[in-house]
Amino acid sequence: MNRKVMTLDEFTIQELRNYPGATGQLSGLLRDIGLAAKRVNVEVNKAGIADILGEAGKINVQGEKVKKLDEFANDQFISSLRSSIYCCGVASEEEENFIAFDDEHSKNSKYVVLLDPLDGSGNIDVNVSIGTIFSVYRRLTPTGTVCELEDFLQPGYVQIAAGYIIYGSSTMLVYATRRSVQGFTLDPSIGEFCLSHPNLKCPGESDIFSVNIGYYHLYEDKVRNAIDYFLAKDEHGKIYRHRFVGCMVAEVHRTLIQGGIFMYPAFGKYAGGRLRLCYECNPMSFIMEKAGGLAMATGRQRLLELKPSKLHQRVPVFLGSRNMMDVWQRIVNS
Ligand code: AHG
Ligand code: MN
Ligand code: MN
Repeated sequence: MNRKVMTLDEFTIQELRNYPGATGQLSGLLRDIGLAAKRVNVEVNKAGIADILGEAGKINVQGEKVKKLDEFANDQFISSLRSSIYCCGVASEEEENFIAFDDEHSKNSKYVVLLDPLDGSGNIDVNVSIGTIFSVYRRLTPTGTVCELEDFLQPGYVQIAAGYIIYGSSTMLVYATRRSVQGFTLDPSIGEFCLSHPNLKCPGESDIFSVNIGYYHLYEDKVRNAIDYFLAKDEHGKIYRHRFVGCMVAEVHRTLIQGGIFMYPAFGKYAGGRLRLCYECNPMSFIMEKAGGLAMATGRQRLLELKPSKLHQRVPVFLGSRNMMDVWQRIVNS
């Protein structure tokens, strides 16, 4: 057995040693999130046999059909954070309002968590990657009280940590803090996330672009110009590759490892963007920036500087490697 492989818990505890002022609360929170992720992973892996496929017969606050796994993941993450002593409240894509935990331990804790419990749920029935996205903020209200809406509506650049779990060909948990981005792969033989991708950096150069081409005719002209550029050979004869999985977690994960640009522009009925600022775009933009990439809401607007006005706000998003983002910015700002 390779004893050098570090589990998520071992890693976060080692990090504590490096930062003597740290209290260990964030480590505890990551452990609780990791536990919920392992429970969800078990259900994801048996989705085909466990009468958990298909829709739960409800419409969520976003007006979308709720899949059974969406509900299951939502319940697991919220109950894990409710029993955690490191979280004073949760906001979830699947819940209309935030949930404030009012027991003494929770009220005395300093972090709130925002969640997309199941991302890419359209992929569940067809055995393609899905994920979970989480984001951690330090509360603005005083500890000892119940948390309030303002604790959740902070700009993305003040995130304490953000991460995702990808349930793919293997299950991984990737998280960023202000210092670094670390990737862990679930070792099913011991049921632990083990450090497999230390200090992740998004390649500065790549040739992959990712966007839903199906909505091409609904995008604004400048976005179409950027897509046209990537579809044609560029002035140096460079040919770009296109990927689209239909799961933001999978797109961002690929972009972190192989580089590229992921775009989810505004279109049609989603004139303000489709993906959610607080649950999807802020955490992914934080991870991307900490890995050395860029994340924008428009050609000139850094996504992490937006101040959310409501929990379920949507936003256009463009993120990825510097060379691809430079090309995109040059075109949309021209
Ligand atoms: P969710 O499953 O949380 O609703 O999010 C799915 C999102 C996102 O992850 C993905 O990029 C997008 O939906 C795909 O939708 P389209 O196929 O309509 O582009
Ligand atoms: Mn999602
Ligand atoms: Mn979701």
